Amino acid sequence: MSRQRAKLVVGNWKMHGRMQENAVLLTEVASGASALRNGVDVGVCVPYPYLAQAQALLEGSVVRWGVQDVSAHAQGAFTGEVAAEMTLDFGATYAIVGHSERRAYHHETPELVGAKARRALEAGLTPIVCVGETLDEREREATEQVIGAQLDAVLLMLNEEQAARIVVAYEPVWAIGTGKSATADQAQRVHAFLRKKLAEKCAAAAEVPLLYGGSVKPENAQELFGQQDIDGGLIGGASLKSKDFLAICQAARTVLQ
Ligand code: 13P
Repeated sequence: MSRQRAKLVVGNWKMHGRMQENAVLLTEVASGASALRNGVDVGVCVPYPYLAQAQALLEGSVVRWGVQDVSAHAQGAFTGEVAAEMTLDFGATYAIVGHSERRAYHHETPELVGAKARRALEAGLTPIVCVGETLDEREREATEQVIGAQLDAVLLMLNEEQAARIVVAYEPVWAIGTGKSATADQAQRVHAFLRKKLAEKCAAAAEVPLLYGGSVKPENAQELFGQQDIDGGLIGGASLKSKDFLAICQAARTVLQ
C-alpha cells in the first residue's frame, strides 16, 4: 500500500466560534498552513453562518473549507436544512456526514447518511463520512460489525466512481471529546479493515483518504498519522486553537518526510 498518499487534516469546529474569534483563528490557520504546503491538505468545517467568513478569509490560501452536515435533498420544503449547492455558492469543498453527534442526537440512520453522502457527491462536494463504535460496542467486540455496516450503508448508495471520491473518518465515539484517543495500533487495525472494505467496492480504495478522529492532539498526532492506513485526522477541540491545530498539521507533514 502506498505511503505516498497526501495527508489531510480537517478541523470540525462543531457549534463553536463567533465572528471575531473566527477571524483570528482563520487568519492564523491560513498563514501557518501555507508553510506546510507539500503533501498536507488542510481544511476547516465551520458552522453554516460562518461559511461566507471562511470563504472571505481563506480564498487564495491553501486551506479549504466546508460544513458539518448537508441535506439529503437538492431543494424544497425542508425547513432548517441546507442544500449542498448553497454551500457551493460559498466555495465549500467538504461536507461532514454521519458524525456520531448527528447519528445520536438527530437520529440519523445509516440510510440517511448514505443519501447525504450521495447528494454531496452529486453536487460536487467531498463528503467526509464518519463511522465509529460506542464503548459498549467495542467491549462487545462488535467494532468491525458496526463500522462495517455504517460504511456499507453509504457504499450501497454510491457507484464506484463516487466511492473513490469520498473521505472516511474513523471516529470511535468513546474517544470523541474525552481526551482518550484510540491507540495508534487500535486505530490502524480499524483503518486497515475500512480500506479492505473499500477495496471490495472500488479499485481506487488505496487512494481514499482515511482520517482518524477522537482526541487528536499535538502530542499524539504524529504516532497516529504515522500508521500505514491513517491518512490524517478530523480534529474537534484542538481545531479551535490555531497553535494546536497547526501543530497537528505539522505532525502530518513530519511523517511524510
Ligand atoms: P475531539 O477532537 O474534540 O475529540 O472531536 C473529534 C471529532 O468529533 C471530530 O469530528
